[in-house]
Amino acid sequence: MPLPRHLLGIEGLSAADITAFLDEAEQWIAFNRQSRKQDDRLRGLTQFNVFFENSTRTLFSFEVAGKRLGAQVANFHTAGSSVHKGETLIDTALTLNAMRPDVMVIRHSETGAPGQVAEVVDCAVINAGDGTNEHPTQALLDALTIRRRKGRIEGLKVAICGDIRHSRVAGSNIRSLTALGAEVRLVGPETLLRREGVPALPSYTALEDGLVGADVVMMLRIQRERMEEALSGTLGDYHSRYGLTRERLKLAAPDAIVMHPGPMNRGVEIDSDVADDPERSAIQEQVELGVAVRMACLDLLTRERRGG
Ligand code: CP
Repeated sequence: MPLPRHLLGIEGLSAADITAFLDEAEQWIAFNRQSRKQDDRLRGLTQFNVFFENSTRTLFSFEVAGKRLGAQVANFHTAGSSVHKGETLIDTALTLNAMRPDVMVIRHSETGAPGQVAEVVDCAVINAGDGTNEHPTQALLDALTIRRRKGRIEGLKVAICGDIRHSRVAGSNIRSLTALGAEVRLVGPETLLRREGVPALPSYTALEDGLVGADVVMMLRIQRERMEEALSGTLGDYHSRYGLTRERLKLAAPDAIVMHPGPMNRGVEIDSDVADDPERSAIQEQVELGVAVRMACLDLLTRERRGG
């Protein structure tokens, strides 16, 4: 794979590109399970994590990933910043760029924000989630989790269930898993199923129908903060039609794994006994592999400026 300058989305990446990220990430899994976890390949480099939206997993794992590779990591949060005095995204980016980072990791509520920043800064840019559009490192860690649990991705039946419309995780996973040869199907209420700019896929409005024979069941969070009128009824109604219960999981393949990018709405889209089932749930493994994937991304995206 030619060394990428930015990681703005899965769109535009080939199966070989995606696989190259996954292969690079594999080495960091065993490394991260050691008690001493210090590499120095990013020593002297500066990583800015620039988050305009809240995050636990993505922000913290990028910080941990950068530090384990030896980078100097600084986190920018909008709370307490001049964004609240009206400073624009681009002016904020130019200001941070003047401090000469080598890589910026950006999360923003607007589709395309990381791409806009990439056009005006001198460093590598990684999209940590832009609006409802893409969350590429989440898709990479999800693909790595599936590959490790199932030994392959090609030919697997993957049901992506819930709020497809507002989910950037769905946006990136649809692109990534279809590129890698999985049979992806979408499951959710009619009003939450539609997405533009992704391949047309088999869709189901009844969870029971969409789960039949699935090898991977990927549940998504209901994103109340991004909705206007798309969800009618209460969260209790939603659970009764679309919540993943142990009974419903029996419709999937007997060895199906359950995934969720987090944060979970327990008792809404997923029941706790499914989410916490050590045999079926891969949710904590997703979090663990997120660090390895982000180490691989930071390494690959800074390799050229480190002299290859
Ligand atoms: N999966 C994910 O993006 O979680 P955070 O919002 O906590 O980063």
